[in-house]
Amino acid sequence: MRYGATIIGTGCAFPESRVTNDDIVDRLEKDNISTNDQWIRDRTGIRERRFSDIDNPDEHNSSLGVAAARKALAMAGRTPGDIDQIIYATCTPDTLIPSTACWLQHKIDAPQAWAMDINAACSGFIYGLATAEQFIQSGQTRTALVVGAEVLNPFINWRDRGSCIIFGDGAGAVVVERTDADAPARILSSHLLSDGNLWELLYIPAGGSRREVTPGRFSKNLHKIRMYGKEIFKVAVRTLAEFATRSLESNGFTIDDVDWFIPHQANYRIIEAVAKRLHCPMEKVVVNVDRYGNTSAATIPTALDEAVRDGRIQKGQLILLDSFGAGLTYGAILMRW
Ligand code: UT7
Repeated sequence: MRYGATIIGTGCAFPESRVTNDDIVDRLEKDNISTNDQWIRDRTGIRERRFSDIDNPDEHNSSLGVAAARKALAMAGRTPGDIDQIIYATCTPDTLIPSTACWLQHKIDAPQAWAMDINAACSGFIYGLATAEQFIQSGQTRTALVVGAEVLNPFINWRDRGSCIIFGDGAGAVVVERTDADAPARILSSHLLSDGNLWELLYIPAGGSRREVTPGRFSKNLHKIRMYGKEIFKVAVRTLAEFATRSLESNGFTIDDVDWFIPHQANYRIIEAVAKRLHCPMEKVVVNVDRYGNTSAATIPTALDEAVRDGRIQKGQLILLDSFGAGLTYGAILMRW
């Protein structure tokens, strides 16, 4: 390894429209589907989420990514011209072609960069950050922009009260830069894994080349998210705890050494159960699922940005990022801030 990689700027952006649980209740009522604020709070910890207005170009996925990226670049003291790699983690791209990374590059004007998307669903940001780390370590990249962003609301199945309540839209971004291989502040390790055998737990049946959206499939909502929440819940708790432990043990740390634990924000109950398994006090866990819901690839970078900007995260601290997502995909990154 020739170099280390370190985060020098963070940013996030959300659409304007706040959608409360009562708004969801009203929406479902129109189709005679019942839910209530209490159930959603108790079972998920979510109070509200943001939804992009997809007719507003400023709230397209790439536009939220641009807003988050600009804040991250400002914090880093870098300009778009400094970026030589753009990694955009999303499963809800602006368009299938070109990549959302290229849309972002076009919008911020980063002529020195090469840009690509990564689809690892909710683990996308971790996969993206780990990829940037490898390019930086090898010497190929000096300054990378890694974005995790989603506009999930067009893919929500409003006939399924079990899944429509959890998702939200948003974007988080980080600027990652080359540092010394043994610098104190750097990414210490990344651990990634996926299990494609579990693809059926969370997927969108139509809309890819495997099954195009026909009028018949459209009427059956096959272009919307299909999720088996109960099954994912169990896998999520087990694998998040496993990956956190694997990450810590490989670096000779225990959970007591961690200053901030930032798990994927899918459901507050999952976060709580994982913290309990790890014996990690909730005071050390960064949570934003209550205000933004599950924003998939955006949950970890937005939570990270919040904790950096409000001063919880301080220089020298040990930060553990931990994710799971559709695929299924898993990953953990440990870093010294
Ligand atoms: O980030 C991507 C990966 N996705 C996830 O991580 C999701 C993980 N799973 C979850 O977050 C939870 O499983 C859910 C929030 C999706 C569901 O919570 P749950 O505690 O697992 O509920 P459940 O599916 O076991 O349903 C319990 C009961 C059922 O009624 P019965 O059969 O006990 O009478 C459901 O029909 O709650 C009912 N229910 C609802 N009731 C009111 C399901 N959804 C709703 C709802 N409002 N929205």
